[in-house]
Amino acid sequence: MISTRLVVDNDFVISELDRRVFGTFVEHMGRCVYTGIYEPGHPSADARGFRQDVMALTRELGTTIVRYPGGNFLSGYNWEDGVGPKDQRPTRLDLAWLSTETNQFGTNEFMDWCRDAGVEPMFAVNLGTRGPDEARHFLEYCNHPGGTTLSELRKEHGHEKPHDIKFWCLGNEMDGPWQICAKTADEYGRLAHETAKVMRWVDPSVVLAACGSSKHDMATFGQWEDTVLDHCFDDVDFISLHAYFENPHASTAEFLGNIDQMDLFIKEIAAVADSVAARKHSHKRIMLSFDEWNVWYKARTLDDRRKPGWPQAPRLIEEVYNHEDALAVGGALIVMMNNADRVKTACMAQLVNVIGPIMTEPGGPAWRQTIFHPFAQAARYARGRVLRPVIHSPTYQAKTFPEVPYLCASVVHDDSTGQTAIFALNRHLSDEQEISIELRGLGDRQRLVEALQLHHADMKATNTQEAPDNVSPGRLEAVEIDGHRITARLKPGSWNLIVTSNAKPS
Ligand code: AHR
Repeated sequence: MISTRLVVDNDFVISELDRRVFGTFVEHMGRCVYTGIYEPGHPSADARGFRQDVMALTRELGTTIVRYPGGNFLSGYNWEDGVGPKDQRPTRLDLAWLSTETNQFGTNEFMDWCRDAGVEPMFAVNLGTRGPDEARHFLEYCNHPGGTTLSELRKEHGHEKPHDIKFWCLGNEMDGPWQICAKTADEYGRLAHETAKVMRWVDPSVVLAACGSSKHDMATFGQWEDTVLDHCFDDVDFISLHAYFENPHASTAEFLGNIDQMDLFIKEIAAVADSVAARKHSHKRIMLSFDEWNVWYKARTLDDRRKPGWPQAPRLIEEVYNHEDALAVGGALIVMMNNADRVKTACMAQLVNVIGPIMTEPGGPAWRQTIFHPFAQAARYARGRVLRPVIHSPTYQAKTFPEVPYLCASVVHDDSTGQTAIFALNRHLSDEQEISIELRGLGDRQRLVEALQLHHADMKATNTQEAPDNVSPGRLEAVEIDGHRITARLKPGSWNLIVTSNAKPS
């Protein structure tokens, strides 16, 4: 048994949590769209082909914003191909994933799906094969009220009212040699600047994100952000970050050290953005959009990423998640919350089948992967102000990060309900953790609202079509509350949620 302490104070606030950190991602890749969210003829599909089993799980997941349409797919995409009568839409080769794209699902279908799911859309413009001209036309089609050829075309396509899409990504991973028409930092920075300029002239209310490095270990990491922001600092609101956790040492302890590495990544990018601000004598702060993150290493071979013969909706990167992956995802969510002052949007990549929290079979069922659970709990209970956690915990040494505390935790307090949500990961893999939590300034008559735990004796345990609830949350027992002090016992290798309230029960 190890002992840890977690202290928060109502006066020590990181930031109000932007609920857009509970975003996900739908790319035209593999089976995310086709046989994922969209499958005409499926027993649960509605008249538009939207799978209602997936819709119900999406709502339960609680995702708040969904990025679309890519990803690498974006850099060869013509938005015009995906609008208008379906029988007139072209079928194209998708060079990103060597697949055949039928365009039976496009912008208007995605907007209808978002409305049904109760999520905000996060769109992206193609800055690979295309540029500012298409970006301004696409925005005009989506957001202009009427009276122009493109806005009237949207109406003809059945959408009288503008879509009013606020959040736009300027391209995707433009530094990556794998990207269709990758750019140097100077080329992309100039392009982002000019694209942002014309997009704001079409609709001044848009929020714009420039591409940061594709991953932390890119050779140009840091320098890329510095150069790009030098060009477009005044034009954009966000810079993006992408990270996929891997387990190269086949060690759970090493794997969970990625969580602290992610925290460092965020702080490094904020520092680079602020150094550009300093150089420009600006008080503006560029916010961070962590618009692709997840665990992804088991289904990462070339064969996982590409199938021969230009197939439609092939099974690509259908990573099956295990218990330790759910712990890593829980830890990533804690990091995101604890950086709430800079990370204002984040998208777990992706939503369905393609490295997704939801899995489906064509014509068959849909189920929750292990990583679904920490995400759904955080999206449900993390509301309000994130309090600065003071953590006293023994640590371990890892190659992924030099000093890793066994306790990883975040505390979010909602003034409107009086509820405090505590998210705690026990990274000790053999010992229980006795945690003592002190909630200062949040009321002295705390009572328990919820206590859940995600634990499995086997770190490699998965959820499958046959056993969809093998890894699923249970009650966290033995939580004791004395005034504003809480104690609990966290199982080895577990993700835990404790919710208290100081309000009288109604
Ligand atoms: O999410 C899968 C792929 O990973 C995305 O298309 C790309 O942006 C990233 O490299």
